[in-house]
Amino acid sequence: MKLSVFGAGYVGLVTGACFADLGHRVILADIDRRKVEMLRKGRIPIFEPGLDEVVKRNAKQGRLLFSTEQPRAVRESDILFIAVGTPSLPNGEADLSQVKTVAKTIGANLDGDKIIVNKSTVPVGMGDLVASIIREQKGGRHRFSVVSNPEFLREGNAVHDFMNPDRVVIGASDPKAAETVAQLFRPLNARITMTDVRSAEMIKYASNAFLACKISFINEIAALCDRVGADVNEVASGMGQDKRIGAAFLSAGAGFGGSCFPKDTLALIHVSEREGVEARLLRSVVQVNADQRKRMIEKVKEVVGPLEGRLIAVWGLAFKANTDDMREAVSVDVIELLRAAGARIRAYDPAAMANARKSLPGVAFAKDPYDAVKDADGLLILTEWNEFKEADLGRVKSLMRKPAIIDGRNIFDLKTVKALGFTYRGVGRSA
Ligand code: UDX
Repeated sequence: MKLSVFGAGYVGLVTGACFADLGHRVILADIDRRKVEMLRKGRIPIFEPGLDEVVKRNAKQGRLLFSTEQPRAVRESDILFIAVGTPSLPNGEADLSQVKTVAKTIGANLDGDKIIVNKSTVPVGMGDLVASIIREQKGGRHRFSVVSNPEFLREGNAVHDFMNPDRVVIGASDPKAAETVAQLFRPLNARITMTDVRSAEMIKYASNAFLACKISFINEIAALCDRVGADVNEVASGMGQDKRIGAAFLSAGAGFGGSCFPKDTLALIHVSEREGVEARLLRSVVQVNADQRKRMIEKVKEVVGPLEGRLIAVWGLAFKANTDDMREAVSVDVIELLRAAGARIRAYDPAAMANARKSLPGVAFAKDPYDAVKDADGLLILTEWNEFKEADLGRVKSLMRKPAIIDGRNIFDLKTVKALGFTYRGVGRSA
């Protein structure tokens, strides 16, 4: 089929490249000239394991094209995917301006029957708004259908997630359009959930909010485990064996960040309250997550003492492992709080340091994990990179001024670190 994807960000790039890999001709359209030029030269603007091979292979074979010409992308395809950003406005509401602009461009250039598929995370009702924007333009005299197909990709696993989805959600009022979109996903042998547009839009928000809820839940339990002498990893593992609960997303730690959970929980709270539904649970999920960052500082103080003039090594800046993404990363808030308390910071991350320099002025960056811990009074771990799990802790100990680890992702075995002589604080694991 002939597809166009509007927006070469995370979702658009992965979606476009993977559909090309399934044999479709895909035009990836973005207004950012620099990004399009970069992609044409075979350079990928984001860090995502496995993505560059898929992009290069399909670009080389002429199935994946990059363009800044939006009108052409509308005219030359039958199915048009909207995959632009919906960032948070200061009041938590999702900023829908990019989706509206693409809808206008589609409406103005529509020249035949097309299906418009929305992949951007948008509040319920946006599908109808996109349809009305298109209808208002001159292209509105052509037949078209708007379908919702929310995205569930995780950064760092995006190509794998696209090719092996737990489910594909398709929301449409036109069964023929729904079936055409479903055909695109058939080669993946995934479970396909067909529903109406509004329910599909809600499934996306509700799924992310529920996962965020699981994380804040286990973090609250972890705080209690710290007090009563239980180990939250044991608790999560025991809970996770119950099929009704499930083991995923029960890792206690420094809290959730990233481009989706913080933004989507706030957007859902905003919509709930606009509709007169009190978002009590979701507000608590967000609050627990904010408090978790402060708890990390308390843990550092417990181990290191007053922070004035102390050197704290930070391992991990990205919002999670296998990405260079710093959006809403826990590290930004935690480092700010540590510095406000007088600490000096030397940080290391395997992939995110270039991005981190922009959000963390005044922080010293190390060339490797060992360089980071030299003469440090404490080592704080904020991202669960394998490089850290495999580190030579004997060497780390010999380099530090005081051997103390505050493990915000519970990556180390308690007995091992203690046998090596470290003072250790995890999250919800009594030391
Ligand atoms: C998430 C959703 O998983 C994905 O379906 C959606 O499309 C986009 O948002 P992503 O933001 O890439 O994906 O990251 P994810 O792996 O879900 O982790 C989000 C945050 O939660 C990270 O900061 C991570 O460290 C944290 N987390 C995750 C925990 O603290 N504990 C867990 O058990 C799981």
